[in-house]
This record gives sequence, C-alpha cells and structure tokens, in this order.
Amino acid sequence: EKGGYEHFMLKEIFEQPNAITNAFRGRLLPALEMIKMEGVQNNLSQFLEAKRIIIVACGTSWHAGLVAEYIIEELTRIPVEVEYASEFKYRNPIITPKDVVIAISQSGETADTLAAIKLAKEQGALVYGVCNVVGSSIARETHAGAYTHAGPEIGVASTKAFTTQITILTLVALHLAKEKGSLTKTEFNELVHELERIPEKVVEVLQVSDAIKEIAQSYAHATNCLFLGRGVNFPVALEGALKLKEISYIHAEGYPAAEMKHGPIALIDENMPVIVIAINKGHYEKTVSNIQEIKSRKGKIIAIVTKGDVVVKEMADHVIEVPETLEWLTPLLTTIPLQLLSYHMAVLLGKNVDQPRNLAKSVTVE
Ligand code: M6R
Repeated sequence: EKGGYEHFMLKEIFEQPNAITNAFRGRLLPALEMIKMEGVQNNLSQFLEAKRIIIVACGTSWHAGLVAEYIIEELTRIPVEVEYASEFKYRNPIITPKDVVIAISQSGETADTLAAIKLAKEQGALVYGVCNVVGSSIARETHAGAYTHAGPEIGVASTKAFTTQITILTLVALHLAKEKGSLTKTEFNELVHELERIPEKVVEVLQVSDAIKEIAQSYAHATNCLFLGRGVNFPVALEGALKLKEISYIHAEGYPAAEMKHGPIALIDENMPVIVIAINKGHYEKTVSNIQEIKSRKGKIIAIVTKGDVVVKEMADHVIEVPETLEWLTPLLTTIPLQLLSYHMAVLLGKNVDQPRNLAKSVTVE
C-alpha cells in the first residue's frame, strides 16, 4: 500500500503533482477564463461584502492559512486575519455576521478547529471549510466549503494536504478576484494558466530528492536549524521548521528573514545550518543581504533558489533549484524541498517517520 515507497510520507510527497491536479480539477478552467467553486459562488455576496476573512486552523493547516493571507489580500484586497483555532476560541474574539471564517483542516476532526467553527457560527459568521477527509465533522459543521481531494494522508507529517490546501485557497482568491474585479484580465489569466502548470513543475522539483538526501547527510548531526523566508514564503519557512521538528526531533525555528537581525542572528555560528528560501521574487536582494549576514558569521547555508540563479549560488554551501513561477504560486514549489529535507534527515537518524513520537494524525482533544 506504500506503492513501492519506503514510507507513506515519501509516497505522499511524490503524490503532490497528482494531488494538486485533483484539487483544481473541474475548478480551474483556463479556457473559459474562470474559476468554478460552488461553495464560493453560492455565498458570493457574503464573501464580496465581507469586512474581513478570518482563517482558523492548527499546525500545518495554520501555515497554509498564513500563505493564503498573503495571496487573498494581494489578489482580492479583502483583509485577512489568521488565528490558531485554539487561541481564537478562548480569547472572546470579535466576530460579526459581516465576517467570513475559513476553517482549514486535513482530518476535519481537529477539536480546536471544530470549537472555533461553532463559536463563529454562534456569532453569525459564514463558515467555509477546506477539508481533505470527506464527510468529516468539520466538513459537516461548515456552511459551505471545498474538499482538497488530496487522497488519504497516512503519514502524521502533513505534506500533500498542505499543498492542496494552498491550491484551494488560491482558487478561492482567484474566484473572488474575478468577481470583484480586483485583478486585470491579463493578471487573472496569467495566474490561472500558471497554476495549471504547477503540477509539472512539482514533478521537476521532486527530481532533487537524491541531491537533498546528500545534503541531509552533512547536517543530520545538527541540534538546531533555522528556516528563513520572506513574504509569501515566510509561512513556508515556518512549515519547513515544523516538519523537521516533528519527524527528526531536531530543534528548528522558522523566521521571516528580516527578523533575524532582531534576535536569532545571535544563534548563528559554524554549527548552525540555515535554510533560506531565496527565490528571485519578493525582495530577492534583501534576502541576498540576509544570506551575507549569515555567511559572515560562518553559518552553513542551504538555499532554495530559482533555476539559473548565480548570485546565491556563489554564497551558499548548498543550493536547491526550483523552476521559475509567479510569486503567489511559489510556495507550491518551495515547500517540496523542505519536506524532502526533513524526510531524509529523519530517515538518516533512524526515526519513525510516519509515526513520530507523541503525535497523532488527528488531534481530537482541545
Ligand atoms: O487535520 P488538521 O489539518 O486539522 O490538523 C492540524 C494539525 O494537527 C496538523 O497539521 C499537524 O500540525 C501535522 N502533524 C503537521 O504535520
């Protein structure tokens, strides 16, 4: 059932080109220059008139929410807030019938997220769900929603659920942008066509798996790791750090690259591997100077770069290339090497990759 792969996690990482295709099948319609999302269409006025969108989720799904915050705000100009479902529930949040709440959950059974949904419904907000498991509690509790169609995710570490959640939320953003007129026709069509090309680009990224395994060999002894990214790739850095912590038990932190100088830079020495997402979009030059700061403190740099990059290649100890794409779609590519890195590290360390200690696939207690 692992389809020839050593672990479910690896199988699920490699399933991502198909999973993303399944997520947008029937919804992404480039020839018709449109997006078809029934749950959005049926509640269109509430979405378009929303004062803000509040995203609630936990763990990896919360990271997908953070990525979506950048995308939805940029494409639709609707303000978005992202909250840990557990914090949302217990801080007496301000919600009104003018808010739209989006709940993201792979399992659809996360107790904290379910509790946040119930509260939002009590306050009169429209609640839209993004779930993977069909018929799950969250899918049933929400007013409308979209399934990610990623297929069963068995590995405790979430991989294809994350990229398909981002795909769905990008579709929601595109749908709203089209209705709102917040993108030009050209911008809209460019994004739609490029999203359609993402699965083949993911296939290309997956080919670096063996090279990443070699890189992992040099760092498996590390006790700490830092993950840095800017803009829409900042949450990808958070997700990279979570993956590493979760399955290899190596302590890792994700930070916005520019925040490094406000504290974490003190940690950097020759024993600190720093994984930097340094693609040629979203303040590339600033990221390059962040890399320079790490280098001058002798930190080891593993950089995720755009294919053909020469500047970062000169500075980094290792580079992993991803194909070029539009800025708002880059997380779908930059995430993949980070998943592979944590996977190979954990395997080298002999950890139980699919069932890490102390963790369960769905967390059904608050
Ligand atoms: O099923 P959910 O998406 O609601 O789960 C939320 C988190 O428990 C989950 O993403 C967790 O962080 C994963 N183990 C991360 O890999």
